[in-house]
Amino acid sequence: MPHIPSTARGARFIGWGTSLGHKIVTNDDLTASMDTNDEWIRERTGIHRRHVGGSTAELSTISGKAALDMAGIDPKSIDALGLACGAFDVNAACSGFVYGLVVAHGLIGVGAERIMVIGTDTLSRIVDWTDRNTAPLFADGSGAAILESTKGHGQLLGWDIDADGSAEEILYAEVGSTIQMNGKEVFRRAVRIMVDSAQKSMAAAGVTTEDISIVVPHQANIRIISAACDRLGISMDKASISIHETGNTSSASIPLALFGDFGQVKPKDGDIVLLVGFGAGMTAASAILRWNAQ
Ligand code: ACO
Repeated sequence: MPHIPSTARGARFIGWGTSLGHKIVTNDDLTASMDTNDEWIRERTGIHRRHVGGSTAELSTISGKAALDMAGIDPKSIDALGLACGAFDVNAACSGFVYGLVVAHGLIGVGAERIMVIGTDTLSRIVDWTDRNTAPLFADGSGAAILESTKGHGQLLGWDIDADGSAEEILYAEVGSTIQMNGKEVFRRAVRIMVDSAQKSMAAAGVTTEDISIVVPHQANIRIISAACDRLGISMDKASISIHETGNTSSASIPLALFGDFGQVKPKDGDIVLLVGFGAGMTAASAILRWNAQ
């Protein structure tokens, strides 16, 4: 497991922003195109409604601009993933934002000053809106964060990124087709790999579950989050949850729960924050942050 050298150049968030698809689709709305009901979706997933619409570029631009406004900086001062600078895609499905965050800390470690990381997905475009197995779950959204180099160790205390290609067939979409998912198998593996990844990050950071102030999990299903927190020994009171309003927005889900309006648990300075996600691939990623550490 990777340990961050004490000499590494650190980073911290200086701004963030979020955006959601323009149209709200309630569980009741879904009953027009599939055999389902509000009670089942709420109980089995925790989702009450979701936001769909907008392109990936449009949602990213809105969240990215909000992050720049909050940081009060000129877009030209961004060194990667921003404007007039290097830009690239880190594709790790729902684990994408945490993958991107780890990459961005690495770039700052080798000299970049400021980096914007954006997690955006518009999965509504590749969902079969008559399929009750997948359509109730997925939605559109975006979350952006700007990282700036610090003089000290910075916010990242430990991290883990994982992938297991042998599980590819349980959640995938062929080019030009819709999402195919073995929900039960995804559920089973999701809990296991979230716990495993979180434990690796905590060990790398030298912290235990007692040290965690807030956990921001990937918002795929409230029962997955609850089972993972239970196995980790972290109270659900410490979990930031936005799935009831957003559904599963893939790589946007962790930044939406961390920075957006719906996550009810927000970090304060010095808090130890666990970000942990999993996704198609199957991928997993987690990070331990000390909030606002210089
Ligand atoms: N509405 C109403 N009833 C339904 C629905 C629905 N949408 N879907 C299934 N049912 C019925 C089934 O027919 C079944 O009925 P039966 O008991 O009469 O046979 C019953 O509900 C239970 O069905 P299950 O498939 O066993 O439901 P389960 O409890 O496993 O929940 C779910 C299904 C929500 C898909 C769950 O397995 C899950 O969340 N899996 C993980 C999905 C996930 O996280 N995907 C994304 C991860 S990665 C990423 O984020 C990209």
